[in-house]
Amino acid sequence: MVKTHSFTLAAAALAGFASLTHGASLEDWRSRSIYQVMVDRFARTDGSTDAACVLYEWCNGTWAGLINNLDYIQGMGFTAIQISPVVKNMEQNTAVGEAYHGYWTVDDYAVNEHFGTVDELKQLADELHKRDMYFMVDVVVNNFAAAFNNTLPPPVDYSKFNPLNNEKYFHKYCNVTEWDNPTNYQDCWLYPYGVALADVDTESAEVVTMLGDWVKELVSNYSIDGIRIDAAKHVDDAFLPQFVEAAGVFAMGEVLTGVTDDMCRYQTKGLLPGMPNYLEYYPLQTVFNGHSMWELATARSNAQAGCNDTTVLGTFAENHDVPRFAAAIEDMALAKNAMTYVLLNDGIPTVYQGQEQHFSGNSTPFNREPVWSSKYDTTAPLYNLTAQINTLRNLAIKLSPDYVTTVADQILVDVNHLCLRKGKSGSQIVFCINNQSSKGPSYELPVGGFAANDEVVEILTCTTSTASAGGNITAYMGAGEPKVFFLANALNGTGICPTTSVAKPIASTNGAPIAAALSSLGAAVVLASMAFLL
Ligand SMILES: *[C@@H]1O[C@H](CO)[C@@H](O)[C@H](O)[C@H]1NC(C)=O
Ligand SMILES: *[C@@H]1O[C@H](CO)[C@@H](O)[C@H](O)[C@H]1NC(C)=O
Ligand SMILES: *[C@@H]1O[C@H](CO)[C@@H](O)[C@H](O)[C@H]1NC(C)=O
Ligand SMILES: *[C@@H]1O[C@H](CO)[C@@H](O)[C@H](O)[C@H]1NC(C)=O
Ligand SMILES: *[C@@H]1O[C@H](CO)[C@@H](O)[C@H](O)[C@H]1NC(C)=O
Ligand SMILES: *[C@@H]1O[C@H](CO)[C@@H](O)[C@H](O)[C@H]1NC(C)=O
Ligand SMILES: *[C@@H]1O[C@H](CO)[C@@H](O)[C@H](O)[C@H]1NC(C)=O
Ligand SMILES: *[C@@H]1O[C@H](CO)[C@@H](O)[C@H](O)[C@H]1NC(C)=O
Ligand SMILES: *[C@@H]1O[C@H](CO)[C@@H](O)[C@H](O)[C@H]1NC(C)=O
Repeated sequence: MVKTHSFTLAAAALAGFASLTHGASLEDWRSRSIYQVMVDRFARTDGSTDAACVLYEWCNGTWAGLINNLDYIQGMGFTAIQISPVVKNMEQNTAVGEAYHGYWTVDDYAVNEHFGTVDELKQLADELHKRDMYFMVDVVVNNFAAAFNNTLPPPVDYSKFNPLNNEKYFHKYCNVTEWDNPTNYQDCWLYPYGVALADVDTESAEVVTMLGDWVKELVSNYSIDGIRIDAAKHVDDAFLPQFVEAAGVFAMGEVLTGVTDDMCRYQTKGLLPGMPNYLEYYPLQTVFNGHSMWELATARSNAQAGCNDTTVLGTFAENHDVPRFAAAIEDMALAKNAMTYVLLNDGIPTVYQGQEQHFSGNSTPFNREPVWSSKYDTTAPLYNLTAQINTLRNLAIKLSPDYVTTVADQILVDVNHLCLRKGKSGSQIVFCINNQSSKGPSYELPVGGFAANDEVVEILTCTTSTASAGGNITAYMGAGEPKVFFLANALNGTGICPTTSVAKPIASTNGAPIAAALSSLGAAVVLASMAFLL
């Protein structure tokens, strides 16, 4: 189990999480990569893979099923998992389905029996720690839940909740309608339809203490290494650092916004140590869907300028709340580029279960396909790519721990390409993503980032090149594939690319090569499409 150094609330308020950057937990999480598990949809206790289920209802995945399939996750090189909330939820089937996702809390002091027993949850933590993997658990503090038939205000029996068993711990009912007014979206109730999400009064000192005591016990009982805080943006600011302090472990708080200042202020004001990186999530979709790669480059720069520390943001291309990448963008080469960026960008790579199987479900709940429907295919192209790249990232970190604290340099960007160099010389990873798709042309792209005469391996094709006097290598581009380069001598004996061949031009499948360096678009367009975001 990994814990932060303890520090007082007063110090937390003064210094924010700057002080956490010296704590073991934040440092350790920075070097991890997370596989996000939605427990009901990952694996069943009996291991069956043929059961069909209704996506609005329980599909009966369990912690025991997850334990039995940790090899599948670790086989991709992940060093942590994040799982669905673990506490007891409401049982009713409603107009918006059942609580299979775990976000409809009724009792924080009981485990969710659909997922398993107290002992099985402890066993999950043990099994992870035996593998030197970290355990992150999703927690809900914004609301408790009760089914209702859309009569307003929702009739809620507060005595059923534990520990917040009284109306006085909740805000009075109002519907969230003003998504840019913090008082409204923090104090009113989210989505009052079928389920009443009774909004917790997190300004109340009594509530701060009760939820702080709870999370501290939860972390201790189940040897939890980190928490994700659901809907952190919908909780008042002052609550968050006190709750994180009580938990005593690293926290990623969900702040769903593509606007730099809205998200980064959670770090710069010391409210949260880390957040899922929604700033780069949006361009990570658009640049593969008709837009220029400059949009992603600009979002990266904005995040670096606006946030305290982008190396503890969680880079992702998919999660359980957004449509799958492949829902809008089918092409496998584009999916590989997006996955490559997630795994090698600054920050903590976070891959949502099923992304490695190229699942293509659209909005909730269709983006929550049971992973067993893939039969846990370890030969799937994105499974293989993830394994290859995570293994390299883990190696780079082992060779030089400051790989994770060194912000990557942008060594090439144009409308079709983004190449980054991350890490100190000797253990740097140089990678290029592009948006040309599997129909993309063949051409040669000069890429820097090495020293004269360095022997370099492109680890997705296991091909070698020698750097020029100026430290450039030639990337033989084709079929829209991403490229990932590492020094050959640092790979010796690691199992990555035990055999190699010399890199050579790829025959064009689609007509004439394109010019390597294309003109750049202005960056101003980037946020234009983001006004509608929460
Ligand atoms: C990081 O955030 C803290 C407040 O929590 C602030 O005092 C500090 O100056 C920030 N550092 C940077 C590099 O922005
Ligand atoms: C899940 O388990 C419940 C309770 O045991 C059962 O009624 C239901 O049919 C199961 N659902 C599926 C999809 O197997
Ligand atoms: C909603 O109405 C249905 C049909 O009258 C009833 O069976 C159900 O118990 C009601 N649910 C709640 C939460 O009141
Ligand atoms: C709550 O507000 C949303 C807009 O944010 C609206 O779509 C919804 O119909 C409202 N629901 C109720 C019950 O008022
Ligand atoms: C932690 O474990 C103790 C002892 O079994 C139990 O009484 C307590 O309710 C548990 N707390 C949580 C938050 O699970
Ligand atoms: C790649 O970027 C170019 C230039 O912005 C754009 O025209 C093209 O549609 C993009 N390709 C894909 C597959 O999105
Ligand atoms: C990926 O697939 C290739 C070709 O089948 C195989 O040689 C390689 O070992 C696989 N890599 C991983 C990490 O599974
Ligand atoms: C070396 O690569 C960089 C891109 O990383 C490029 O801008 C530069 O023109 C290349 N130099 C040569 C001599 O090809
Ligand atoms: C790899 O390591 C072995 C054993 O240390 C050494 O004999 C061999 O020359 C090395 N190969 C390369 C390409 O560096």
